[in-house]
Amino acid sequence: MTRRAWIGSVGAVALAAATLTRGVPSLQAQAAGDAQKAVDAAYAKFKTLQEGKNADYIPALAKVDPNLFGIALVTVDGKVYTAGDVKTEVSIQSISKVFTMAQVIQEQGLDSIEKRIGVDATGARFNSIIAVEAVKTVVGTGAPEMNALVNPGAISATSMVRGANGDEVWKKIIGFHNDAAGRQLSVLQDVYKSESDTNQRNQAIGALMLAYGYIKDNWQQAVDLYTRQCSIGVNARDLGMMAATLAAAGKNPVTNKQVMDPDKVPGVLAVMATAGLYDDSGKWLYHTGLPAKSGVGGGIIAVSPGKFGIAVVSPPLDDAGNSIRAQRAITDISNALGGNPLAARPKPKS
Ligand code: DON
Repeated sequence: MTRRAWIGSVGAVALAAATLTRGVPSLQAQAAGDAQKAVDAAYAKFKTLQEGKNADYIPALAKVDPNLFGIALVTVDGKVYTAGDVKTEVSIQSISKVFTMAQVIQEQGLDSIEKRIGVDATGARFNSIIAVEAVKTVVGTGAPEMNALVNPGAISATSMVRGANGDEVWKKIIGFHNDAAGRQLSVLQDVYKSESDTNQRNQAIGALMLAYGYIKDNWQQAVDLYTRQCSIGVNARDLGMMAATLAAAGKNPVTNKQVMDPDKVPGVLAVMATAGLYDDSGKWLYHTGLPAKSGVGGGIIAVSPGKFGIAVVSPPLDDAGNSIRAQRAITDISNALGGNPLAARPKPKS
């Protein structure tokens, strides 16, 4: 199946149709119609949902409008389908962990993250200190059973980005995020200040990670840069584009910039699949099959490899720290469009 033929395909039917109707515009128009229809339907269905609560342990996040709701689906050939508010920025929060991990993998190889931090789920909350104390090593490899998507692993991953000083490291981190989003992003200063004033727990985690050898030096710089990366402002469209860059084997489908080597992307997606929604990652994967990542700012990105990236922004969260509307909308849309990469579809009889 060509990449263009996937949307709206109920698998085999689209494969047959794509072959038969090459050059006939109606199939693509139909596929585009299906994608927009699915996005619009999810928006209408969940717009009035009143469940969950904004994160408030970072005071600035409690002030964000809980009614903000935007959906953006971006295909691997750069088509964008949206509903709701896809312009208002929220802080990227933990979704940044994916891109800093990806940057370390791109710069230093797949082994670097696996050996220093690990690629196993902790099954604990994102900022668990007990999980740091309980961490074991994988028998025979010496790799820790942790990952770069929980705070201890993420702060450690940030410390691994190479640079002569903090400014140099920061330019690389924001540069990688910019390339994935396809535009120049900037830090939401109110969120950065609010989180810097209240992130004593992350500081304790940073110090602990130095003590245990995950961070080699200067844990304070690592925590500060981590806090800054979590405060990057993004809208639903940016996040959809970032997800689509991963779906398109590391190439931003609109700017066409190859942000990451294609052979390194599956490693990133694997960690997202096992740990992207923290202790609810299993449930999420069970219903969608999609590698994904949430942030306490209200965003979730999800990736259907070779097909599309999708993002939703909606601040109210569940107890695990994942946006409720985002989980529901992405599940509906992806399932309507056949986005589950674990679902094989039978071939048509010829
Ligand atoms: O470190 C923190 O607590 C936040 N900057 C990020 C946490 C987060 O987004 C967890 N995600 N669901």
